[in-house]
Amino acid sequence: MSLHQQVISWPLAERTVLWQPLLGRGLAVHDETLQAIAKSELPPPLRRRLSSLGLLKDTIQDRAYAVIVRMRGVTALPQRHCLWHPLPNQPGPGGFAYGRTELTELGLAVWLAITDTKTVSDVADKLTVSCGDVLQILAEWMGPNVQAVQLRPAPLKRVDPTLLAPLSPPRPDLGRDRVGTGTDLLAYHQDAITDGSTHFDDRETTIAHSYAEPHPALHGERYGARLARVLGDVTPDMVLAEVGCGTGELARDLSSVVSAVYVRVDLSPELLRHQATVCSATHGVMGDATALPFADGSIDRLISNEILADLAAVPPEALGVAERLDTYGIAAWQHLYNLGSWRFLEEIARVLTPNGRAWVSEFGTVDAPPQETTHLDHPEVSITFAHLEAVARGVGLVATLKPLHEWLEVDRSAVHISRPSWQAARAWSRANGHHLQARAYTPSTLADALAEPMVPLHFVPVTEPGPSPLWSRFWGLLLEKA
Ligand SMILES: C[S@@+](CC[C@H](N)C(=O)[O-])C[C@H]1O[C@@H](n2cnc3c(N)ncnc32)[C@H](O)[C@@H]1O
Repeated sequence: MSLHQQVISWPLAERTVLWQPLLGRGLAVHDETLQAIAKSELPPPLRRRLSSLGLLKDTIQDRAYAVIVRMRGVTALPQRHCLWHPLPNQPGPGGFAYGRTELTELGLAVWLAITDTKTVSDVADKLTVSCGDVLQILAEWMGPNVQAVQLRPAPLKRVDPTLLAPLSPPRPDLGRDRVGTGTDLLAYHQDAITDGSTHFDDRETTIAHSYAEPHPALHGERYGARLARVLGDVTPDMVLAEVGCGTGELARDLSSVVSAVYVRVDLSPELLRHQATVCSATHGVMGDATALPFADGSIDRLISNEILADLAAVPPEALGVAERLDTYGIAAWQHLYNLGSWRFLEEIARVLTPNGRAWVSEFGTVDAPPQETTHLDHPEVSITFAHLEAVARGVGLVATLKPLHEWLEVDRSAVHISRPSWQAARAWSRANGHHLQARAYTPSTLADALAEPMVPLHFVPVTEPGPSPLWSRFWGLLLEKA
């Protein structure tokens, strides 16, 4: 047994990529696999896998009958006669750098004729050229540096992960502090957020921000307006506090459908300034969620969307943990605790009026230990909601925990732009000096936002990755005071 004579290879971390340029497919393998190939001792499942990728000798069939499938983050700009694609050798913290590859007339025609179900021969027939002509074009799109198409034995039953991102070196580490190793989250929010108008497009996109325009998944409503349903009755004499308001769009949209006095609390001077430009009918106050700037029993309704993870998570030995484990009956473990969000709940219990109601949301799980995210420039940690429920009980609040999509009755069959297509569209806009907001674009809203067509862009159900974080990771916790 030996490798196919066309296979090329390059090192990738501790492994070696074997790449078949005749099919545009490859695999990263360990040294043991290379040795097993040399000794003809490959276990059958691995042998089948390598054969299916054309990596072993005599495993490539007649390519005229292979189906041409496009990689998901690759798109053409027909008006400019170029492909716009990730650069596999330039993975960055926020995704790949992108580059363009010029297209001949025939190249563009081939690209536009690909449907992900047509074979090389189908495309050749459609364009009245030979299979050899089509394969010659495809050869430029199946190398290590331009991974734009794959040749597969049959049409896809599902999009497999190898179509979502090129085979490339791992993303570089962001090089920032980890939880508890230096970043002061209060200082980060007070000083490091410098552009309120783009922060949530470029640095930490939230669900509320991605759905700040009317969306079919929210039955044609905006996220902020749809949140009114979690608040129960709201009357004009009530005070509604929103804590951690980001762009202010949620305040804009929620305050347009409820009639209470609306107060925004945030730590970031830049975000408070920006919010005031978006929702001038609300009042902004600089303040900390863990020491709310309100008198006891003075707030009738409180909303806080996606800020719990911004509050400090601490190790078991941190000050304030042991006594709370005892008070709230939380079993000890050796992982982090979401102490900042516990303190926030204590504050919520303090400031709510009798019969007051609060609703908070964040990414996390019911009972798994907090996990730190790796893609942000500050250390955010998932929330263990069972602990928050225990704290709520301990401070006299009645807690109801449900997945976020249930609170908002999200239509999960609605679509938004897929994450690879979003990355391509955003990279193209950036390259041309345009700022594309991080919204859950549908085909029609994207057409309005893009300056020129990109072919193809994929749209997927909102349960799959797109510009926004995944709905399935988020929970909403209703807190009612007796
Ligand atoms: C991830 S953003 C969420 C923004 C908005 N609620 C949304 O869903 O798009 C977190 C927000 O909380 C604010 N924030 C972070 N820590 C805070 C704290 N300790 N007290 C008050 N606001 C805080 C940030 O400045 C930012 O506005």
